[in-house]
Amino acid sequence: MGIIFSEKSKTITLHTRHSSYQMKIGNLDYLFHLYYGPAICDADMSYQIMQYDRGFSGNPYESRNARTFSLDAQPQEFSTQQQGDFRTASIEVVNGDGSYSFHGKAVDFRIKKGKYQLDTLPCVFANEGDTADTLEVTLSDAVSKVQVVLLYSVFEEADIITRAVKVLNSGDTPIHLKKIMSVCLDFLNGRNFDLVSLPGRYGQERQVERQHMTHHIHTIGSVRGSSSHQQNPFVILCDKNATEDYGQCYGFSLMYSGNFLAEAELDQYDQLRLVMGINPKQFVYELAPGEIFEGPEVVMAFSDQGFTGLSHLYHDFYRSNLCRSKFVSETERPVLINSWEAAFMDFDDKKLVEIAKAARKMGVDLLVMDDGWFGKRDDDNSSLGDWYVNENKIKCGLHRLVEQINDLGMKFGIWFEPEMVSEDSDLYRAHPEWTMQIPGRPAVRSRNQMALDMSRREVQDYLIEKVNAVLDDANIFYVKWDINRSLTDIWSNCLPAERQGEVYHRYILGLYRVMDNIIKTHPDILFEGCSGGGGRYDPAMLHYYPQYWVSDNNHPIDRLKLHYGTSFVYPVCTMGAHISDSGRFVPLRTKAMVAMCGTFGYELDATKLTEEEQKICREQSDLFRKYYPLIFAGDYYRLTNPFEPGNMTAWQHVAKDKSESLVSVVVTNLTCNGPQEYIKAKGLEPDAMYTVNDGEEAYSGSALMNAGFPINREVPEYTAFQFHLQKIR
Ligand code: DGJ
Repeated sequence: MGIIFSEKSKTITLHTRHSSYQMKIGNLDYLFHLYYGPAICDADMSYQIMQYDRGFSGNPYESRNARTFSLDAQPQEFSTQQQGDFRTASIEVVNGDGSYSFHGKAVDFRIKKGKYQLDTLPCVFANEGDTADTLEVTLSDAVSKVQVVLLYSVFEEADIITRAVKVLNSGDTPIHLKKIMSVCLDFLNGRNFDLVSLPGRYGQERQVERQHMTHHIHTIGSVRGSSSHQQNPFVILCDKNATEDYGQCYGFSLMYSGNFLAEAELDQYDQLRLVMGINPKQFVYELAPGEIFEGPEVVMAFSDQGFTGLSHLYHDFYRSNLCRSKFVSETERPVLINSWEAAFMDFDDKKLVEIAKAARKMGVDLLVMDDGWFGKRDDDNSSLGDWYVNENKIKCGLHRLVEQINDLGMKFGIWFEPEMVSEDSDLYRAHPEWTMQIPGRPAVRSRNQMALDMSRREVQDYLIEKVNAVLDDANIFYVKWDINRSLTDIWSNCLPAERQGEVYHRYILGLYRVMDNIIKTHPDILFEGCSGGGGRYDPAMLHYYPQYWVSDNNHPIDRLKLHYGTSFVYPVCTMGAHISDSGRFVPLRTKAMVAMCGTFGYELDATKLTEEEQKICREQSDLFRKYYPLIFAGDYYRLTNPFEPGNMTAWQHVAKDKSESLVSVVVTNLTCNGPQEYIKAKGLEPDAMYTVNDGEEAYSGSALMNAGFPINREVPEYTAFQFHLQKIR
């Protein structure tokens, strides 16, 4: 059992293989956090807690004779408000009497086998054979009758702990939730922590930033209605000396696709608090008596093996416990070609068939018809919402088009942007009230489109019906689900004025309902998420889709950074990566190698390639298939940091049994008469001997890891090298 309660010390300890997490039902039944870090066996960590009479740090009434006891200086499992803890709160609730107080005492806890699930939000799951246990602790406010249930699941072998939260109004008047954080983690000594996050922008998602913790609240979050291009719901707290391979790192990955917030506060006593959950900005949620609110799950991991160790924990866990699609492991993903950068919206059925014929010669298995096939869409000013085929373009009809592609021995995929509506659409003309726009205010356009009110049941049902109908009309193998704007004009015509603060969250709940239905109705379809590139790349999306489009930026040299940053938490098998025309001076083989650090495909007009280029592509598609098990199931290592000055970017895939590996190196900069560069491998068996690219010589794992590969520098710019290592003894 990964969860142990000690009657004597009143501690509850969560144990994974290499980490421990401890809390205590302490003074006056407050729930204190005691520890998270390397495994501590059965130690009672209460000895860590010191209490002093701290000025301006209030004492709970019940402890009036103990001035040394203040919530302001104690590590908490769930920080409260109005109770003398002036640090970042986990909850802000307006009670029925208008007060803002939540005075939560631990009144109950349960330990159960298995993984908890949430009714309204996606969660990771336990597979058969996983050791997963759940702890539920109930904190109750005796006056307001507000209850907070803290949920924890421990995945022992995976070294993962998940947390989520529920709020129950057991009083007899409505309450208003203004902030509810899913995780609160207090470190007694936070002076030496750095915070790592993945900020970005359109075309440059998930770049890596690291900041040292100073005495203020560091916030990472989104208010764009989606988890966004600009920030990602993932942060790392690490030792200031932590590197790629060494040092302690804590990861926090939030399973939510809407507005989120992570706050890291270094307090006056150098204690560090991290909270993470739904962004409280413009969030007010009414809970009637008896109602429950669920906050999204946070997946936490601890590693003392630096960023690589932490990434490996997430990669392994997200590859097996996040998405139920058969494409996660049972069925191999196809090599695809997407029509977007080949033709944008200027295509018809004949053009698509021509692209498919040329692509077939390149070893492509799947043609994806991107934006432009529906309504009367010829540019991005119209037709979103009208999910029926434009027969002026697809003259033979969808069914026949798919048959033609299938006759070529290829599969067919299609693009949707279900959450959006164009003013110039039949849907908008019929139902302007389904759109998010505030009465009396024309809504902000972005790409000249508006968002549907996904919180509305009729909208959800309309999308379920229309998208399912298209998917049932033809032999569709793949769906790309896109969203191309941030949300503004947050308003639902279905809710009264005083409940508009619920719309952001209800939008996400509605979206999850629609996706869940469509995906469950079509379990054999491969889904890929997209938001103008990788703008909503988060674990909740990956719960539904096994892959996500990393970025609209296909430039292979930029992609090195994009893949590097994304890989901090998301496994490479989730990363949509294609070869395109972008990067004119980059050889095709280099582009292919970069795209092999992901799901591999093409995003170009195959009919315009020369026979020689098509032949190279065929070889590359075959190589991807050959290395597929290694890339998709192996351990991924970042060998260099493309954000640091250097002449090469390198990465590596290593089979779990270390019998095989693929080292990829791209020369990003050639200096005149420069030094010889060496790339050091990782993760090999030191004493084993490996051949390189089927050569006759064999090298020890230790040599390849400690001395490395010399990289030939007399090559054209942007040359790439792939070293396939095979263990021979
Ligand atoms: C944004 C996506 O990222 C692109 O790949 C493409 O699907 C366009 N949208 C289509 O509008």
